[in-house]
Amino acid sequence: MFETLKPAPPDAILGLSEAFVADPHPAKINLAVGVYKDESGQTPVLKCVKEAERRLLETETTKTYLGIDGLADYRRAAGELLFADAVAADRVAMVQTPGGTGGVRVVADFVAAQLPAPTVWVSNPTWENHINIFSAAGLETQTYRYLDGSKTRLDFQAMLDDLSSKPRPGDVILLHACCHNPTGVDLSTEQWGQLAGLLAERRLLPMVDFAYQGFGQGLEEDAAGLRRLLAECNELLVAGSFSKNFGLYSERVGTAAVVTADAATAVAAVSQLKRTVRANYSNPPRHGAAIVATVLADAELTALWHQELSAMRLRIAEMRRGLVAGLAAAGAERDFSFLLDQTGMFSYTGLTPMQCDQLRSQQSIYIVGSGRINVAGVTPANLDRLCEAIVSVLE
Ligand code: LMR
Repeated sequence: MFETLKPAPPDAILGLSEAFVADPHPAKINLAVGVYKDESGQTPVLKCVKEAERRLLETETTKTYLGIDGLADYRRAAGELLFADAVAADRVAMVQTPGGTGGVRVVADFVAAQLPAPTVWVSNPTWENHINIFSAAGLETQTYRYLDGSKTRLDFQAMLDDLSSKPRPGDVILLHACCHNPTGVDLSTEQWGQLAGLLAERRLLPMVDFAYQGFGQGLEEDAAGLRRLLAECNELLVAGSFSKNFGLYSERVGTAAVVTADAATAVAAVSQLKRTVRANYSNPPRHGAAIVATVLADAELTALWHQELSAMRLRIAEMRRGLVAGLAAAGAERDFSFLLDQTGMFSYTGLTPMQCDQLRSQQSIYIVGSGRINVAGVTPANLDRLCEAIVSVLE
């Protein structure tokens, strides 16, 4: 039966991590997958998470199934972070999902089942896995322009031009709430306002991927785009994640949300989201969601989380400054100061696929072929070697 089976190509992002693990180079550097590392190159368990886990170990009395939609306290807390009071809670249909990827997939399945074959419009470029997920859900994707010719800055006019003319009413427009993956190039609050007006006027349905809340400017600041959309659009889709901002990667904690025009529709929407979940993985895992709910229900732990999240954000910003200075010191002729205007974990460096290949094969430095680097993987210890290596492959 399997005689014609062909191997699938390695995943553009996680496939590189597999190659990294197998690489014996003592000073190898992994800037591929979007995972935070501290100054010593470790991905730490946050202190607030450890404390919540300690409390859970003492108080947890059962491992019985959660409901299909997950833990209620978690959903409430996640809803407050995402929406604050920008929309009445009874207009939000939300389920807990296995990570942000699970959130995107549940929303995609919901769209495929409930809407009349819309096209999903994604930025060019977008996170490699977006297109996989929509295609697995049976949805067609198209791209809208996002970057200018330098590939390091936003071309907002081109984005508006495409979205004003190409999608049909009812199509879905995928947007990254903040810390755009893979480019690090975000919209300003004014631009979000303009975009929201256009989407509402053209009856396009925004879908917001919100995987990096707190890594851009701050928890509340990073939600500014979503707030502007909510002010203009009655209906909206959101996929959220606590992988990065709580460091809960392997615990798989995310959300899928549908904002509806009224409460009755939200009740119907949640029942459809649950149907999707039941057919996929039945119900979500408890531990990560219980951690988030425990931290966010406790003022002290929440304050500690805010502190730890700020520290991660500030370290990344420091490494951005380090890269710009280090590349100049290593003799780069090109001006890399655009790295300072990009936010979050990722940056488009402008490196070509061939230069990324060279860095991997000659220097054991792993960068996604698009030229995306995970700035959070840069540390004071690897910064100099990284800058010299990058300069050595620049023409
Ligand atoms: C990334 O873009 O590196 C992260 O979101 C991890 C992943 O699943 O690709």
